[in-house]
Amino acid sequence: MKKNTEVKKYKNSFLNWIEYRLPIISYLEREYGDYPMPKNANYFWSFGAMLTIILVVMIFSGIFLAMYYTPHVDMAFESTERIMRDVSFGWLIRYIHSNGASFFFIVVYLHMVRSIYYGSFKYPRELNWLFGVTIYLLMMVTAFLGYTLPWGQMSYWAATVITNLFSAIPLVGESIKIWLLGDYTVGNATLNRFFALHYVLPFVILGIVALHVAAVHVHGSNNPSGVEVKTPKDTVKFFPYMLIKDTLAFSVFGIIISAVIFFGPNLMAEVDNYIPADPMVTPAHIVPNWYLAPFYAILRAVPDKLGGVVLMFGSILVLFFLPWLDKSKIKSCSYRPVYKWMTILFFADFFILGYVGLKPAVGTYLLMARVGVIYYFLYFLVLAPLVPKFEKTSQLPDSISDVYGAK
Ligand code: HEM
Repeated sequence: MKKNTEVKKYKNSFLNWIEYRLPIISYLEREYGDYPMPKNANYFWSFGAMLTIILVVMIFSGIFLAMYYTPHVDMAFESTERIMRDVSFGWLIRYIHSNGASFFFIVVYLHMVRSIYYGSFKYPRELNWLFGVTIYLLMMVTAFLGYTLPWGQMSYWAATVITNLFSAIPLVGESIKIWLLGDYTVGNATLNRFFALHYVLPFVILGIVALHVAAVHVHGSNNPSGVEVKTPKDTVKFFPYMLIKDTLAFSVFGIIISAVIFFGPNLMAEVDNYIPADPMVTPAHIVPNWYLAPFYAILRAVPDKLGGVVLMFGSILVLFFLPWLDKSKIKSCSYRPVYKWMTILFFADFFILGYVGLKPAVGTYLLMARVGVIYYFLYFLVLAPLVPKFEKTSQLPDSISDVYGAK
């Protein structure tokens, strides 16, 4: 008989029983208790945890909505209205889900701004960045699919416009479009597959998030100075320090999102989506959700359909290459006096693209979109690789403790 080698590590015998069979408790202790967080990590480092919580809330609220929603062109709109009017607290679950999507993007954009500004995408965290961009891409697809489900006017026409883009691809475009739609036009087959994919993709995202977070923990988190942790003096334990900080950040965020859900639940919604889908009536302006608007602006900035599609997909693809485009050894923009302002301008540029993406593509708006697109690609393809060649960076501190005190 095999000798019992069970170690009594914990006071609680149940925990010992689990730990011996699956050392998950020591794993959690190591990764979320003792995990050394750079002691200068600011509130920007709370957004990752916040995103994880939002993702879980989105999955749960989505499952509840799916229990009452009917993915059929004759019933989707009505079933959504039924959720709002007849299902107990259906309105709350729906507003949590729809506003949750908007806040998910607000937080993910802040998380990305942090990663770009402080150079968190650089060596040795490139894979972590690649997982992040993949998550972002899947989030956009999931959000677009979700937008089509209530089968309002914007749902129908956004689905029509976006799937039509594929027909711009030479030779195979039309076939790809029909394959995506499951029909020759947006219809019941389309709604069904969009629902199935909208249900499953968040679980794929969850899986990638697990890899993303595991990858962060391999080399530890970056910090505002971009200088790597050198001694234990540079860090504090995740528990309780970071957990308290994250809890405070999430509480403030919770108050803001609750205020929106209860007092302005349609602030970020499109009014036209409260009109049932009608293939015979095209809305005056077909607009995507605000968080996809920068890419919509890029798409429409080019007079040629194929050119617009290539630029739009290119603007997302280029993100994957950022760790190899920006070759500066200095991570944090705080020590890069020139590139810092170019990066801040890039954030403003993306914001402006989002604004014009929600406006008609004419006159000044079109001009702004074109200038915006030029700067977008200039930033990634010219400034990121070339600025390090001539930029005179500021003196980096030797260690985190050097700037933030040894205690
Ligand atoms: C569902 C979406 C996401 C979740 C749940 C998530 C979660 C996390 C968590 C928990 C961390 C560690 C804590 C922190 O640094 O804030 C982290 C770090 C990081 N994330 Fe995300 N993330 C998401 C999306 C993204 C996206 C879209 C990107 C970039 C395109 C990204 C890039 C990064 C990078 C570069 C780090 C390392 C940060 C550092 O060490 O300074 N993440 N993420």
